[in-house]
Amino acid sequence: MDMMMLVQGAACCSNQWLAAVILSVCCLLPSCLPAGQGMDYSWPAVDNLVVRQGETAMLRCLLEDGASKGAWLNRSSIIFAGNDKWSVDPRVSIATSSKKDYTLRIQKVEISDDGPYTCSVQTEHSPRTVQVHLTVQVSPKIYDITPNMVVNEGTNVSLTCLASGKPEPSISWRHISPSAKPFGSGQYLDITSITRDQAGDYECLAENAVPYSDVKKVNVVVNFAPTILEITPSGVSLGKTGLIRCETAAVPSPTFEWFKGERKLTNGQKGILIKNYSTRSILHVSNVTEEHFGNYTCVAVNKLGTSNASLLLNQIIEPSTTSPVTSSAPSTAQYGITGQAEILFSCWYLVLTLSSFTSIIYLKNGIIQ
Ligand SMILES: *[C@@H]1O[C@H](CO)[C@@H](O)[C@H](O)[C@H]1NC(C)=O
Ligand SMILES: *[C@@H]1O[C@H](CO)[C@@H](O)[C@H](O)[C@H]1NC(C)=O
Ligand SMILES: *[C@@H]1O[C@H](CO)[C@@H](O)[C@H](O)[C@H]1NC(C)=O
Ligand SMILES: *[C@@H]1O[C@H](CO)[C@@H](O)[C@H](O)[C@H]1NC(C)=O
Ligand SMILES: *[C@@H]1O[C@H](CO)[C@@H](O)[C@H](O)[C@H]1NC(C)=O
Ligand SMILES: *[C@@H]1O[C@H](CO)[C@@H](O)[C@H](O)[C@H]1NC(C)=O
Repeated sequence: MDMMMLVQGAACCSNQWLAAVILSVCCLLPSCLPAGQGMDYSWPAVDNLVVRQGETAMLRCLLEDGASKGAWLNRSSIIFAGNDKWSVDPRVSIATSSKKDYTLRIQKVEISDDGPYTCSVQTEHSPRTVQVHLTVQVSPKIYDITPNMVVNEGTNVSLTCLASGKPEPSISWRHISPSAKPFGSGQYLDITSITRDQAGDYECLAENAVPYSDVKKVNVVVNFAPTILEITPSGVSLGKTGLIRCETAAVPSPTFEWFKGERKLTNGQKGILIKNYSTRSILHVSNVTEEHFGNYTCVAVNKLGTSNASLLLNQIIEPSTTSPVTSSAPSTAQYGITGQAEILFSCWYLVLTLSSFTSIIYLKNGIIQ
């Protein structure tokens, strides 16, 4: 098979030439070949043209002069023979800026247009072919990503992110919240025995040489049983309001229960008001009386487990006329209250000692005078 065949019949009139082109061009196309017969001739030097999907491709080819004729063919079909359009594709036309210009224009380039194109030019002297390889580039597009998920702590988690594009996009993962930690690249992100710190958004980034990269997120909720981080003590004076704050870590948010000794507390009982927030519950005891002092227990429960902590609500003996209603200084359960009482006692003792010391001085001064 040879390009020379295109030239045969060149001297004749246009119709004959066309017939020859059809016949000979046909021999270039695999569909015309008998089954099993390959095309193994070597092509002339190949031009490369890189165009992004959706743009216009201009495949250059020059005729020698007004008399020479050209034909454009695709891998499997004749697109143009001379000025006769064979392709039914409306995006395809011949750009004729000059008499010599025989450039093939493909508008709104698609991926299927990718491949080799041949311009066959026939002159009186020598035939010529121009090979153009059209490479269509496509922006990365993430077409499949693991949906948001809720898992229990300790579960093995596998996230998938699949993207299309030309060239093949590279994929990388990042843990957005709370630590913004980068992970290795690849379509799959495996987290062995996920921890609560690894909860949050995972961002998949797909990029290739073509603008613009594509980004998508997966949110991973990690459930775990409640732990009580602190139960803040509150010494309280008679007649004032006492607050006991029970702070937890738990996903999903726990429900709270409060006990005084063995007895369950509910809103409305003798000055008791319980306010629940997502991970915290606050017990208000208003107008404190003697019977309010004692051992309080906070119980936090979610579907993965339960946790409790206790503290003693103690009386604060007011040292002066102005008194702090509550103390919000965090401290560990039970010890805090006693600690405060001890400090108060030491202060009081110091004042006593100092005052007796000064009275001795006064006494001495009195004697001298
Ligand atoms: C080239 O041929 C392919 C089929 O092989 C076709 O899908 C594509 O549209 C053709 N391109 C042009 C520009 O005709
Ligand atoms: C989680 O992955 C680790 C390491 O690959 C494996 O040893 C373990 O059995 C897996 N656990 C589950 C529940 O699949
Ligand atoms: C909130 O507090 C009330 C007491 O007023 C308690 O009965 C209820 O169970 C609590 N709800 C949650 C969701 O913890
Ligand atoms: C607090 O309790 C005392 C006696 O129990 C009562 O006289 C007083 O009115 C109460 N104060 C408030 C604000 O409820
Ligand atoms: C308070 O009550 C809890 C639970 O009933 C108990 O474990 C704890 O020992 C009690 N603390 C004190 C100081 O009595
Ligand atoms: C508090 O937790 C202990 C074990 O940690 C459990 O034995 C006890 O029954 C719990 N108390 C309440 C009131 O849930």
